Amino acid sequence: MARRIDARALAGWAAGLALLVLPGCRQDMHDQPKYQPLEESHFFEDGRASRPRVPGTVARGRRDDDELLVSGKVDGKLSEVFPEPVTRATLERGHRDYDVHCSPCHDRAGTGQGMIVQRGYKQPTSFHDARLRGMPPGYFFDVVTNGFGVMPSYATQVPVADRWAIAAYIRALQLSQHATVAEVPAEGRTAFLEGKTLDPRTGLPAQEAAAAGRAVPGGGHE
Ligand code: HEC
Repeated sequence: MARRIDARALAGWAAGLALLVLPGCRQDMHDQPKYQPLEESHFFEDGRASRPRVPGTVARGRRDDDELLVSGKVDGKLSEVFPEPVTRATLERGHRDYDVHCSPCHDRAGTGQGMIVQRGYKQPTSFHDARLRGMPPGYFFDVVTNGFGVMPSYATQVPVADRWAIAAYIRALQLSQHATVAEVPAEGRTAFLEGKTLDPRTGLPAQEAAAAGRAVPGGGHE
């Protein structure tokens, strides 16, 4: 009995305290200092509470507003151009990602006889086929992004920039099998016609020693 009275008294006391303290808490939470979006600030020199981006900030994730970059299309049509200039670094990146993601089926030269195909998967058309040589860069980006027939989409495995790098590398593979003499850099043309190997980095005749050890990417087929 004595115990119960004590408990009741304690509960009443606690409730009273809560009534006193809780509104105070609520008030604090309500008024805690913060800036509303685009509010003026006297703390920063430029008077803006919203801080500008640090110069050189690179967007992460998808840049959805750039149609060419994320869909491979311009006004709904497959793009004839790459979204950014293709450099040697682009091709090296494309080479690496192509070998990882695409060569198991399309093989390293792009003829469509990769190991998975040799084990029974549907054989894709060779990238050196006239129809595919005539396809614009946006087509290759689109196929990797959305898949094609039985080939699944690689959008989750291959980020946007790498898909473009792969598309550029496929173009390089195609050229490696179908370039004309006119496309050989003028400085190296004579040596090339004499049957000498050209250094793929410079387009000039390779040093005999270097040529002996170097495999020209995608070359030596056909
Ligand atoms: C698992 C095997 C496999 C992988 C990996 C694969 N592909 Fe394919 N790809 C195929 C097959 C099979 C087809 C033909 C599909 C069909 O006709 O139904 C195809 C079709 C294509 C086509 C369209 C060819 C046409 O006839 O128009 C392109 C372009 C292509 N692949 C590019 C790529 C690229 C780039 C990668 C790497 C990111 C890749 N593929 C990875 C199996 C694969």
